[in-house]
Amino acid sequence: MSNMTDRDFVKNFSLMTAALAALAVVIFIIAQVMGSKTTAISAADNPEEQQTLAQRIKPVGEFSTASAVMNAVVPVASAATDGKATYSTSCAACHGTGAAGAPKLGDKAEWTARIAQGKDVLYKHALGGYQGKKGFMPAKGGNGSLSDDAVKAAVDHMVAASK
Ligand code: HEC
Repeated sequence: MSNMTDRDFVKNFSLMTAALAALAVVIFIIAQVMGSKTTAISAADNPEEQQTLAQRIKPVGEFSTASAVMNAVVPVASAATDGKATYSTSCAACHGTGAAGAPKLGDKAEWTARIAQGKDVLYKHALGGYQGKKGFMPAKGGNGSLSDDAVKAAVDHMVAASK
């Protein structure tokens, strides 16, 4: 009998603890919402407080960390994007369709041996143009306004998509 009571007690006690914990969470959330509202309102009336608030909110280390990450990520991302964009505007006319004997983007059979020459050869052929067995690759795809880096990025894009 006393065993039952103990069990009941444990059961009830756990239930109560859980309920209290849930209540605490709800109160905490309400407090957060109300707190941020009040601060926002009082800060809106007071520019000086707005500034200090902004300073308080801004974690000291975060900004420099974020910009360091951006500096590391953005050039890689934009180079990749540029390569794709350059490919679309200046290379896809031939390499998208295989027109004029151009190795088609994504055509592994066409690209394997070319890729095996190494990137330097591919860059050289793309930048300076060359006459191959299949056809004529014009220098920079015929778009002289492209920078060397843009052409190289386009080659990288084509290689990556054709492996
Ligand atoms: C007017 C059509 C044309 C355009 C535009 C063109 N290509 Fe080509 N490209 C070719 C042809 C044709 C070949 C194959 C030549 C051969 O091997 O006979 C080729 C081959 C290549 C190769 C392989 C080179 C090798 O050594 O096998 C690369 C890399 C390349 N093109 C990059 C580019 C890039 C980058 C662009 C855009 C900036 C571009 N091409 C635009 C026609 C074109």
